[in-house]
Amino acid sequence: MEEEGTTPAISRKTLLKAALIATPVPLLAAGAPALARTVWAEGGPLTPTPFCDDGDDPTPAQTEGPYFKPNSPRRSTIPGSGTGLTVSGYVFGLACQPLANVLLDFWQCDTNGNYDNVGFNYRGHQFTDANGAFKLTTIVPGLYPGRTRHIHVKAQAPNRPVLTTQLYFPGEPRNNTDTIFNPALLMTVRTVGGRREATFDFVLRVQGTPPTSPPPTSPPPTTPPPTGTWAPGVGYTAGAGVTYGGSSYRCLQAHTSQAGWEPPNVPALWQRV
Ligand SMILES: [Fe+2]
Repeated sequence: MEEEGTTPAISRKTLLKAALIATPVPLLAAGAPALARTVWAEGGPLTPTPFCDDGDDPTPAQTEGPYFKPNSPRRSTIPGSGTGLTVSGYVFGLACQPLANVLLDFWQCDTNGNYDNVGFNYRGHQFTDANGAFKLTTIVPGLYPGRTRHIHVKAQAPNRPVLTTQLYFPGEPRNNTDTIFNPALLMTVRTVGGRREATFDFVLRVQGTPPTSPPPTSPPPTTPPPTGTWAPGVGYTAGAGVTYGGSSYRCLQAHTSQAGWEPPNVPALWQRV
């Protein structure tokens, strides 16, 4: 596996190092920044989400590495084994107007720190809804040499430039040593039932007028629990009902299903009803 962040960003790294020296306190802050919706509700100006490129875009045709790949599948749930993670939030313009139909293309490594450069595992794109909301269900990415824990994302409002950036996790030891880490890209993360629930609001450089009503101050509503026949690779939430083998089951705790975890086999996850 190649290490990202080693290609041609010398000038950018130099700038970042200079910023580290000039403003050490905010860059070393452990907590996540206030959500854009909160900043706006308190009357403050919105700061556009920073650009963050670690040299892995676009894909060099002759090199296989941890690179962005176009044509990811459209899906908001990325199957995989590991600690479950949801990332939800909104995409706003500069006036805090919610932006609908924004393309969000996520990609990340697996729990072992490996990217799938052959297929599309741990890759997927989605579009914000009419409220500018999005929700990604995935797993916590692993670590690999040279980088702190992160999720890659490209965000593009209709007919606007692409923002390539990354999302980070608070409290990661490597946040303080990763030269391209940016605390403005920290998600708000909490642990719920063994899973992680992260929140992040993107702010894109799209002009507009402020909404007539304040932006929502709470995370977007969770999507209804999946129903139907149990299937692997689905992010089930507590209370979800499924059928399997002709019987009905209720999900006891949120998890991403996988082969071998069929409801009859895991009474800790599924209760027959
Ligand atoms: Fe990466």
